[in-house]
Amino acid sequence: MAHQQNGPFPQSLPKAFSVLIFIILLKDVCNGQPQLIGPSQVLVARAGDDVILPCHVEPAYDVSTITLEWTRSSLDPRFVYVSRGSQELEKLKNPSFKGRTSVFVDELKYGNISLKISKVKSDDTGTYKCYVPVLEKEAFVELVVASDAATSPVISLSGIDKNRGGVVLQCESAGWYPEPELLWLDGEGNLLSAGPTETLRGPDDLYTVSSRVTVEKRHSNNITCRVQQRNTNQSRETHIHVPEDFFDITSSSPSVTDTSPVSLALCILLLILSVVFLVRRKRKHLMRTNRRPKDQTEDVRVSTEEDREREQFNMKLPITSRQQLQEEQQRREDAENTLGDLQNDKEKLENELQDEKKRNVEQEAKLKELEKKNTEIINQLQQEKETLEELKKQLESKNQELSDSISELNREKMIKESEINTMKNQLESNKQEMIKSEREKDEIITKLRQTIVTLESKLQEEKQRREKAEKQVQMLPTETEEEKQKKEETEKKVQTLPIKSEKISHINSPSKQKKKRLKEPQKEVKGQPKNECCAF
Ligand SMILES: *[C@@H]1O[C@H](CO)[C@@H](O)[C@H](O)[C@H]1NC(C)=O
Ligand SMILES: *[C@@H]1O[C@H](CO)[C@@H](O)[C@H](O)[C@H]1NC(C)=O
Ligand SMILES: *[C@@H]1O[C@H](CO)[C@@H](O)[C@H](O)[C@H]1NC(C)=O
Repeated sequence: MAHQQNGPFPQSLPKAFSVLIFIILLKDVCNGQPQLIGPSQVLVARAGDDVILPCHVEPAYDVSTITLEWTRSSLDPRFVYVSRGSQELEKLKNPSFKGRTSVFVDELKYGNISLKISKVKSDDTGTYKCYVPVLEKEAFVELVVASDAATSPVISLSGIDKNRGGVVLQCESAGWYPEPELLWLDGEGNLLSAGPTETLRGPDDLYTVSSRVTVEKRHSNNITCRVQQRNTNQSRETHIHVPEDFFDITSSSPSVTDTSPVSLALCILLLILSVVFLVRRKRKHLMRTNRRPKDQTEDVRVSTEEDREREQFNMKLPITSRQQLQEEQQRREDAENTLGDLQNDKEKLENELQDEKKRNVEQEAKLKELEKKNTEIINQLQQEKETLEELKKQLESKNQELSDSISELNREKMIKESEINTMKNQLESNKQEMIKSEREKDEIITKLRQTIVTLESKLQEEKQRREKAEKQVQMLPTETEEEKQKKEETEKKVQTLPIKSEKISHINSPSKQKKKRLKEPQKEVKGQPKNECCAF
């Protein structure tokens, strides 16, 4: 009995421990011992390549039966690949990735969730998220797909540097992504020190780079402009051969050092003004010295016939004045030609200026549009972040509820177990009591049997005594009154005996119903005295 009372503890303690360990393990899984590991660097690929975006669970954890997600938030729908229990859910996937993404199914059981993207395009550039909802873990992979639209550099003559006696070359190349670098090299492959590289980013996200360099005569005249993107191993280059005599011209001729449109226009304006001034002065001078040729010179180039007439007229003049006149006419024609050329140049430049302004306005508009888009994207991101935080909170509260209910269940289980144990104890004590009462019953029965045996022996004695007495009676021929009375008494005694033994059998009968074991001895007790009684 004492052993049974201590029962509840040894029995339910191991169970409580295992429940505790289970809860700890569950917490570990929820609170994230396992981590998702992505690459530490930006992945760079060329258009048309197949790439693998690495992502795996550490420590290794079988993910072949759970939901896995690869997404890119800038897409709509954002799913690049989703699978549940190794089965891809293709319906969720963004159509632009149809048939192009896959995971390595055999690797899932080792926690390897790496994603393969086939034939990447420049549109695939972006940040990808590898996400395991059960673990609430994520990793990010940045992919850059290089543009395949890069153009070969174009080298043009930009101006002349009089101070250094060199020519200024400009190089430009467009259609690059990611941003490239621009290098100038001389014929021996040495780097030339150039001005800063100007970088422009177009609305298609592609970069245009340009740079200027001043090439001096001491440089070998075979010049190379190279544009390269190191991460993608892309490179384009163009050579230009600057003729030797070009440098001689630059050192002797009056040259333009700065070729910005405004200063160029100013110079040209000055030139025009001075030429006009010169021409007017010459004209006045001519009018004063010789009035007659003036009429002719006005239409000097109308036709060749007029020219011939004029020559004939000029022949009549004195040689010296004729020569003077011819020289004067020549000069005037030259000046007029230059004037015309200069005016043409001016018009061209003005047109270019106008174009430049238009382009500027367009670019400003584009810039504004880009800014608008940026703010929109930022707003979207903010919203997504908020919804995600909301979700996180909900999940956390659910988690809390779950652990609460688990502990509640445990408490109930403990209570049930202790109830069961008390019931067991009661049963046990009941059993013990039954055994005890049976033992007591057995004792009563054996006592009864003993009394029966003693009664039987007494009966036997009485019988013998009676037999003796009978013999004595038979031997005596006459009976005295006293003897008669004695005889009757003894007969009465003998008659009461069977009644006693019947009482005994009445006492025995209730135990007969309870215990079969006791049946046989009872029969013996019942049977013997009855037979003896009947014999009388
Ligand atoms: C995951 O699987 C890919 C494809 O088999 C493999 O290239 C990559 O190394 C694996 N990553 C890890 C962490 O095992
Ligand atoms: C200029 O140099 C490049 C290599 O730097 C070479 O390929 C090219 O043939 C050279 N051109 C001339 C005209 O020497
Ligand atoms: C670029 O070239 C280097 C060595 O030449 C190589 O290690 C690297 O993998 C290449 N990168 C790409 C993206 O092809």
